[in-house]
Amino acid sequence: LALAIQNDRTFWIGDELNHNCIIRAMRIASVPRENKAIYAHNDLDQLKACIEKVPAGIDRVVVIFDGVFSMRGDTAPIARIHEVLAPHRERFADGLITVVDDSHGVGAFGATGRGTEEYAGERADVIVGTFGKAFGVNGGFVASSASLIEAVRQKSDTYIYTNPLSVADCAAAQVAVDITDSEEGRQRLRHLHARIAQFREGLASLGLESIEGPHPVVPLLVRDTQRTRDVVRGFFERGVLVVGLTFPVVPKGSETIRFQVNAAHTEPDIDHVLGILAELVR
Ligand SMILES: Cc1ncc(COP(=O)(O)O)c(C=O)c1O
Repeated sequence: LALAIQNDRTFWIGDELNHNCIIRAMRIASVPRENKAIYAHNDLDQLKACIEKVPAGIDRVVVIFDGVFSMRGDTAPIARIHEVLAPHRERFADGLITVVDDSHGVGAFGATGRGTEEYAGERADVIVGTFGKAFGVNGGFVASSASLIEAVRQKSDTYIYTNPLSVADCAAAQVAVDITDSEEGRQRLRHLHARIAQFREGLASLGLESIEGPHPVVPLLVRDTQRTRDVVRGFFERGVLVVGLTFPVVPKGSETIRFQVNAAHTEPDIDHVLGILAELVR
């Protein structure tokens, strides 16, 4: 996507906690430093300042953010982002577009699994995502207007000069999308959302620190590298896989254990994990 829309009159604005693939994409597309601005995580005052300071000579602005921030499980407030951008919509000859990377949202989030847009009640102009999470396959997608997709097909050499997804992957992704968009899928989502609520309530009643949000990514803030490692090992020894994020992946003091609840987890599974937490994290 970045290769398709980048030129020297394009300016990019992104959330500081954007996923690494967004940062890499801008490097691959050779976006110069002076054509980029970053706002503090979900800080709409800073976003407003960034858009107001876009220099003269820019024809297109791209505002890009994760839908669900993968390390934290919190979400981009798409409707409020659009409110901040609204006064600037007509300012640029080639437009002002929002792009959401909803890799963690699509398939798992929102009442029918349509992701952060459904949760926020507002659509971005472009949505990119993966089939590798909720859908359990490989590969990913860009969804937008026909003209933008055509530009991606014609101009993105990382897309053109690589093998396409295999037929089997595409077929599996299609079936996964169909299941999500069926009564069976909605039933699984209701179950998933109930398990997330159960887990979050359990964390709260144990007095443990998390980041608010209804997403399956549930962080437990441990704030100490050694303690994080000990708890992750304790879970592993008890047959539960959880992911520790320690320095230098996250700054010192932000060490976190990332739990990911999924639709296959049962009520007793969640109670089991909460029981281990009560034992390990006191
Ligand atoms: C926000 C976000 N974007 C992109 C990716 C990468 O997805 P893929 O491995 O399908 O490229 C991930 C997950 O690792 C992610 O969390």
